[in-house]
Amino acid sequence: MKLISASDVAKHDSQKSCWMIIHGKVYDLTNFLEEHPGGKKILLKYAGKDATEAFDPIHPKDIIAKYLPPEVCLGEIDVSTIVAEKKEETPEEKARQLAIQNKPHISEMLNLHDFEAVAKQVLRADAWAYYSSGADDEITLRENHNAFHRIWLKPRVMVNVTHVDMSTKLLGYDSSFPLYITACALGKLGHPEGEVILTRAANKQKIIQLLPTLASCSLDEMVNASVVGQILFYQLYVNSDRKISEQIVRTAEAKGCKALFITVDAPQLGRREKDMRQKFVINPPDMQDDKDLKTRDEGAARAISKFIDPGLCWEDIKWFKSITRMPIIIKGIQSAEDSVLAWQHGCQGIVISNHGGRQLDTSPSAIEILPSAIAALKAAGADLNKFEVYIDGGIRRGSDIFKAIALGAKAVGLGRPTLYGMSTYGEAGVERVLQLLKDEFEMVMRLMGVTSIDQITPDMVDIRNLGNHISTVPRDYLSSGVYDKMLPRRSKL
Ligand code: LAC
Repeated sequence: MKLISASDVAKHDSQKSCWMIIHGKVYDLTNFLEEHPGGKKILLKYAGKDATEAFDPIHPKDIIAKYLPPEVCLGEIDVSTIVAEKKEETPEEKARQLAIQNKPHISEMLNLHDFEAVAKQVLRADAWAYYSSGADDEITLRENHNAFHRIWLKPRVMVNVTHVDMSTKLLGYDSSFPLYITACALGKLGHPEGEVILTRAANKQKIIQLLPTLASCSLDEMVNASVVGQILFYQLYVNSDRKISEQIVRTAEAKGCKALFITVDAPQLGRREKDMRQKFVINPPDMQDDKDLKTRDEGAARAISKFIDPGLCWEDIKWFKSITRMPIIIKGIQSAEDSVLAWQHGCQGIVISNHGGRQLDTSPSAIEILPSAIAALKAAGADLNKFEVYIDGGIRRGSDIFKAIALGAKAVGLGRPTLYGMSTYGEAGVERVLQLLKDEFEMVMRLMGVTSIDQITPDMVDIRNLGNHISTVPRDYLSSGVYDKMLPRRSKL
């Protein structure tokens, strides 16, 4: 491969000619500026420079080779010509480094909120903003957690609970307890290795991972990180170009994924203002022209999701069934009516989910919809041993899992807490997050007087207040202690 000097790359630093270095290779991205899903502004920021650090968290390694013609790669950078840039450490970065050095020992992490609190200190500001943000006023984000507090348990005693079996099956596949790691985008924002860490932790804890379309790692990397026989499901964002979706689905199936979870709650990505403000800080207004004003505040979420097809509808299920033998699960159901429609369209299950409160603010929590969805499915004639209902959003305690199972869920999805475990302590962190939940769930089963999953029934929970959004519960200091308040922008003083 041709060797190119850093000074040559530096000359191509504009819209007219935009070269950049990524993983030691030099690319000419001039013709790709307008098409880049994240916008051209971010490419121009790195024109003439090394973009590897910014590229990595957002893109799987193989993305350029997959989607751009080979001629965009001009050659390799001549490393002897690179002059190391001296980076000024900002006060924020200094504080972050200090927080990393002074992290509590992992054994001091006693619950999922502990991980979130440490993640908030050790993550880069843009990563924290992207991971932690919800839509609009973040009412739903908080409600997802709070709703569980409006369900009270009805424990039974004097049952022999010496042996408790938490194991279950998801779509016929073994799981050590009723929980799977759900799909979250951009794992490398939290850890340089990204989602493969979740794959390895899922194996250690004998649970299933739902691989994300928008992972930072490639599908191959995640599949290669799994062990023989480890069960992986695949989450799909449907592309406006159905040929691309078809190729993705076929590849996922060929690589051994056992189910297809189609995300349907994001025809447009929600407004996540923490994420958007972060972008605003990174690219101050004076660096931008008028045209950029329209797009500069979109944040990471919108930048990575422009390809999602808003035209996706129920009629498309037939087509998906024609291109795959994987069972189809609709992820992002938010009503009893749509639960029934998913069953009527021949899907094998649903995830009741509001996307972690990141999409439509003031949409209800999954746990609140669950009882009505189960009732509607039963009334329509669905066999709930064949049509599986999952929920995600706001799960932070073993008792939350118990409540979901009692109300008819087969399992729950866990998202953000796995990212926080990964961002703070890597694989050990994710394992501990899962182990803590497992231990809590086992304890709750024992204290509720049940010894197996099938003994967990609706009469074990009191949901009289669940739909009542004005009922008071004791204040939850843990979650409000880590909750990152949204603050309006003020003048700079
Ligand atoms: C999110 C998407 C992309 O940020 O899943 O919520």
